[in-house]
Amino acid sequence: MKKVIVTGGAKGIGKAICEDQIKRGNFPIILDLDKENACLNIRRWSDQFSVTADFIKADVTDWQSMETAAAQAEDKHGKIDILVVNAGVSHRASFDELGPKLWQKTIDINLTGAFFTVKAFYRHFTEYREEADGRIIFITSGSAITGTGGGAHYAASKAGNHGLMRALSKDLKRTGTTVNAIAPRVIATELFDDLYPEQKNRDAILNSIPVGRFGTPEDVASLVNYLCSEEASYIHGQILLLDGGRTY
Ligand SMILES: NC(=O)c1ccc[n+]([C@@H]2O[C@H](COP(=O)([O-])OP(=O)(O)OC[C@H]3O[C@@H](n4cnc5c(N)ncnc54)[C@H](O)[C@@H]3O)[C@@H](O)[C@H]2O)c1
Repeated sequence: MKKVIVTGGAKGIGKAICEDQIKRGNFPIILDLDKENACLNIRRWSDQFSVTADFIKADVTDWQSMETAAAQAEDKHGKIDILVVNAGVSHRASFDELGPKLWQKTIDINLTGAFFTVKAFYRHFTEYREEADGRIIFITSGSAITGTGGGAHYAASKAGNHGLMRALSKDLKRTGTTVNAIAPRVIATELFDDLYPEQKNRDAILNSIPVGRFGTPEDVASLVNYLCSEEASYIHGQILLLDGGRTY
């Protein structure tokens, strides 16, 4: 049974990743600010599955909070095998509207939060693993590639994750841990609903997706599962665009 840390696992994509990992016999540990939703999920999973999950309240923007959460996770569950760096926010703003407050908030959560998350758990992945089964997976965004989506602050925060991931791919040389990024575009979650409340915008986006539907949190969870498999052990330092063919 693999131990899987999922930041932002209380809802949306992170929640689907946790549920998928449970179905595959692994044990997710949710790190999130949202205790209510996280505990609700865990209660529901306990009724449905024999393997359950744990929740540790943590703020990815707070170094000390992440250090404490990592220590608690290790005390309770031992060595961590999979780290999913998923917590993130997106508030739409054009470049004209964008000011220092929204810029800083987005960078703090999406980029600095990713850095603090990896730092807090890094020692679990630097020790050589014979089975080569360590995995660090960033949930970034197609915005980092296309510049579309929430705006410059969001695209820049996610592009920063790509740089962080690529640097880690060199640092994790010969450890048995791979690191990759999944870059989704539109995935039907609350974040997407907040970003595109108008039906005409949603219709236009739907029209631009060759596969003919929006992505689902389960699509992301399936790709996470594949990257965690032995079959994916040669995929390292890559950005996997998950967009139904919309970009290329
Ligand atoms: N939904 C999409 O269309 C889409 C597309 C591309 C990328 N993404 C990325 O996928 C990830 C998940 O998105 P989602 O759609 O599931 O969003 P969501 O809003 O449904 O869930 C985000 C989760 O992150 C948590 N979170 C926010 N700030 C936090 C903090 N400081 N510390 C700890 N937890 C915090 C929230 O409580 C929430 O549970 C994000 O990084 C997002 O940028 C989403």
